[in-house]
Amino acid sequence: MSKIKKAGKGKITVRDIAAMKERGEKFAVLTAYSFQIAALLDSAGVELFIVGDSVGMVEAGYSTTLPVTMDEIVYHTRAVARASSRALVVADMPFGSYQTGVGAARENAVRLVKEGGAEAVKVEGGRRTAEAIRAIVDMDVPVMGHVGLTPQSVHKMGGYRIQGRTRAGHEDTLADARAVEEAGAFAIVLEGIPVALAKEITESLSIPTIGIGAGPHCDAQVLVVNDMLGISAGAQAPKFVKKYADLDTIITRAVKTYVKEVKTGKFPTRRHSY
Ligand code: KIV
Repeated sequence: MSKIKKAGKGKITVRDIAAMKERGEKFAVLTAYSFQIAALLDSAGVELFIVGDSVGMVEAGYSTTLPVTMDEIVYHTRAVARASSRALVVADMPFGSYQTGVGAARENAVRLVKEGGAEAVKVEGGRRTAEAIRAIVDMDVPVMGHVGLTPQSVHKMGGYRIQGRTRAGHEDTLADARAVEEAGAFAIVLEGIPVALAKEITESLSIPTIGIGAGPHCDAQVLVVNDMLGISAGAQAPKFVKKYADLDTIITRAVKTYVKEVKTGKFPTRRHSY
């Protein structure tokens, strides 16, 4: 598959994303990690890719996103950026790449743009990471925030738990979302929060909200691509996932047939030989 990216032409930009919120037009976001899948998603109309640190869980089998490194995100971002003719490419800043200080945050954001080809970066946290967001935005690198259930805080949260259910949690998440907007982010992911809270945040912010497990009122939706395609190697998907395909079954069936045909000599035939 060959796909040559023409600089900027036809690309969705952060300005387009802002205009969609103004028009009340919803947009579709998926995670992407690899060249061929990103090329398919791009031509199928996905408007924005997040090269998420979820890559560590779905592609490398880690039990959390915490071990994911800058080098890994740079590698996957480069593959996705090469495949993206239209979708805006946002690279996730992995754990440890921005929490240790604004200097590190700036340097790592630069790497994702320069080496990975990212057009924006994503930072988890609200009030506690607002300074890092502002520092990156000040370099003219667009930043997407991420509040609610922030997977890099898994140990603090005591697991992957829905956030913002109590009155205090509701106020905290709202304050975090406001801090992200005030710090200059162009969009914000709302993950694992009640529908009413996501609606309130979406209505009170001028930047678009991108929901995952946050109900229908967000300006956009994101899913982990493997989850929505049904590639899970048998693992149970969370409740908020809608499976649009069952690739586990298709892959297993195809590979079983291949194994059988190799063993019985049915493959390769003369048609597959030189
Ligand atoms: O890491 C990730 O994939 C994400 C998205 C689900 C928003 O943070």
